[in-house]
Amino acid sequence: MKMIQENFLLDKLNTFCVPAKARYYATLEHVEDLEELLSAMRYKDLPFLVMGAGSNLLFVHDFDGIILHPLIKETRLIHEDEHDVVLFAGSGFNWDDWVTDCLEKGFYGLENLSGIPGTVGAAPVQNIGAYGVEVEDFVVAVEGVDLTTGEQLILDNEACHFGYRTSVFKQKGSGSFVVTGVIFRLRKVPEVNLSYPQLAAAAETMRNPSPVDVRRLVKEIRRQKLPDTSVFGNAGSFFKNPLVSKSVAAALQQEFPGMPFYPQPENMAKIPAGWLIEQCGWKGRREGDVGIWKTQALVIVNYGHATGEEILAFSEKICKDVDEKFGITLEREVQVV
Ligand code: EPU
Repeated sequence: MKMIQENFLLDKLNTFCVPAKARYYATLEHVEDLEELLSAMRYKDLPFLVMGAGSNLLFVHDFDGIILHPLIKETRLIHEDEHDVVLFAGSGFNWDDWVTDCLEKGFYGLENLSGIPGTVGAAPVQNIGAYGVEVEDFVVAVEGVDLTTGEQLILDNEACHFGYRTSVFKQKGSGSFVVTGVIFRLRKVPEVNLSYPQLAAAAETMRNPSPVDVRRLVKEIRRQKLPDTSVFGNAGSFFKNPLVSKSVAAALQQEFPGMPFYPQPENMAKIPAGWLIEQCGWKGRREGDVGIWKTQALVIVNYGHATGEEILAFSEKICKDVDEKFGITLEREVQVV
């Protein structure tokens, strides 16, 4: 375990690049080090915040607690047969590096999730999803430690309570559990998922797209739509796509013909928040150093020196407008600290 650092600057550790400090910061390279860390910190009675790449966080204040940054990087092959492999990956791997590594070894399934910023450990917390795939489809179990008891746990897929951009880990709060690794089941036989219309359209002219082709197409779509996080501070989708009843969606569609929506189980419908925000005239709009990205209205960007508070205030104006025009309350995907 590296030394615990005090008054640690987080500016470079959150993809929004907003200024913030943590009272304490500790990296975790081996699960075994956690016991030592917990006993060193327990008496301080401060909250924990587990932080991967900081790609889904917005700091509006300094964090008066302990940031725990897992850097666990080990892999294990747990099982292999002619169809599948079951693999363990430490929570500290960069997500996209892990996807690349799997594809290079001929382990398929994660290709639609290419290019998502963040770490392996954060993937199940958020239940990351894109282009027709959610990580829960490939998660066998999640390993971690309950930070309140110090107990090591393995939660199977069902126990993770995965939902749309959520899981038991998110529901419990990001300071109560640290993911130390994820067990994936991946395919050895390629079976590409082109269910997302935009991806299907991009692959239209290809005869037999491979998982590697899918990765390339996904990365290209992302490049066209989403800001490059290494240039513009952002945290991907700021809001979730709201879920409403089918009758509400149908009534809205009468009033706003052309409103897209995706039918969901149990008579619900998902409406793209990007469309709602765009209709309110926010797409591409900028106020000072905060703005909405020009090709994807779900993404808020820090163009320079915006603070977390400025970004939050900007997002609240958007929520207000969407609520006034459509009667829909947007829910944040980004976690505000
Ligand atoms: N749309 C607009 N204007 C916009 C953006 C979107 O009208 O500015 C409408 C269009 O009708 C478009 C539809 O929304 O066809 C869907 O847009 P897109 O394919 O960009 O997907 P999304 O629903 O806006 C979600 C995820 C993204 C993920 C994409 C692709 C959420 C909150 N966001 O966005 O995830 O990459 O689908 O699967 O579910 C993230 O979570 O950080 C993220 C980027």
